[in-house]
Amino acid sequence: MTIADRLNDKTLFQTQSFINGAWVKGEGAVAVTNPSNDEVIAEIGDVGAAGARAAVDAAAAAFETWKKVSPFERAKLLMKWHALILENADDLGQLITLEMGKVLREAKGEVLYGASFIEWSAEEAKRIYGETIATPFPGTRGWTTHAPIGVVGCITPWNFPNAMITRKCAPALAAGCTMVIKPAPETPLSALALAELAKRAGIPDGVFNVVCGDAQEIGPVLTGSDAVKMVGFTGSTAVGKLLMRQAADGVKRVALELGGNAPFIVMDDADIEAAADGVVASKFRVSGQTCVSANRIIVQASVADKLVEALEKRVSALKAGDGFDGSTDVGPLIHHTAVERVDALVRNARDSGARIITGGKPMVDELGGSFYAPTLIEGGSADMDVACFEIFGPVASIYRVEDEAEAIAMANDTPYGLAAYLYTRDVSRVHRMTEALDYGMVGVNAPMVGAASTPFGGVKESGIGREGGKWGVEEFTELKYVLLGGVD
Ligand code: SIN
Repeated sequence: MTIADRLNDKTLFQTQSFINGAWVKGEGAVAVTNPSNDEVIAEIGDVGAAGARAAVDAAAAAFETWKKVSPFERAKLLMKWHALILENADDLGQLITLEMGKVLREAKGEVLYGASFIEWSAEEAKRIYGETIATPFPGTRGWTTHAPIGVVGCITPWNFPNAMITRKCAPALAAGCTMVIKPAPETPLSALALAELAKRAGIPDGVFNVVCGDAQEIGPVLTGSDAVKMVGFTGSTAVGKLLMRQAADGVKRVALELGGNAPFIVMDDADIEAAADGVVASKFRVSGQTCVSANRIIVQASVADKLVEALEKRVSALKAGDGFDGSTDVGPLIHHTAVERVDALVRNARDSGARIITGGKPMVDELGGSFYAPTLIEGGSADMDVACFEIFGPVASIYRVEDEAEAIAMANDTPYGLAAYLYTRDVSRVHRMTEALDYGMVGVNAPMVGAASTPFGGVKESGIGREGGKWGVEEFTELKYVLLGGVD
């Protein structure tokens, strides 16, 4: 049965969590809606704290055998999961568009992006190397190994309902860990579909569990259970801080990918047309609802008019609409409340003296309550809300600066430090400025930074740890040192 068949007969959605290889119904019915038209597409029961405990117990039991499965075998199972995801990529893409609204081509792109983490991790499973170490003690040898950390509890977001699961699970499973995933209540279906495919791939029961329900109930089980050794989270900085506090009692490892306030710096020697394309790609992808979206476009004053003109042309041509419509550039936001929040930011900017160049309003009458017009604004004060907070919507705001020093000072003037972007053709400037930017990732003449092979993560209040590449696998391991004596 394909995912699409299950979508049609709704069996996937009548089974609401996936615990120890079995579909489990929860209590009540939390509606999952298509943000594009507010239609209820599924109703998901809540398995609550008891369900979360059952999943943790299952993951703990499964860990005892999974950690001993040879990395070559783990890699094979992951590659089967990968192949099944690719086989079902169209259906999985549709599921993403249906439950969170993003444009279908972006949704399909996300499925491939998500699958790439599984492929990379499967390959990496075989390359988790230790080292031998010179010791100061006569007659000894020292070495290190990377042991899987154990059961990992992950809380995943709605903006990438597929890829933010695979980016965590694939390296964890490759390393020998087992998982309990709590997906966002807005987007449980992609998580359940991944569970279905994991089961078909032969990933053993209890290794990959999905629990749906109330975060207030499930979160504390994940952060509080002795059996859970690590907590992973992608989402807001406020929730990340809360989880970190909760996890502190058990001195659990945390991997947090939190909010951002990405500067997109355009210097006077940049290719302005390429920079304008880059702003649109970074800012309007997923309707601006990514943690790495350009949040502040910081441009050197001498080329600002040229950039504003190039952006006005592009942003005013963007078409908002349903994600399934092939002509749509920008889909809906996740909720009506997200639209209200974005509109409040724009109104605050207007009140602070910013000029609305295009957009600047909800599209309730034209398209429905979850749509906001692609917006370009300029000016206003440096401390207005749109400059200080993560916008998470299709609003680009431009700030003029005189020189490099001012650009860096403005870029770093935030508690966040996830991604930054820099457009310049001067190699010395690339070195000077990338070194001065307090960010975990910097895209130079490149509007998108994430890939299976590269380290994704932030500094300051944007998080702890890295996902992706060899670093993403290492996060799920404990470094163990062994000293052997009596070697004559
Ligand atoms: C995110 O917004 O958290 C993920 C974005 C990406 O991986 O590019």
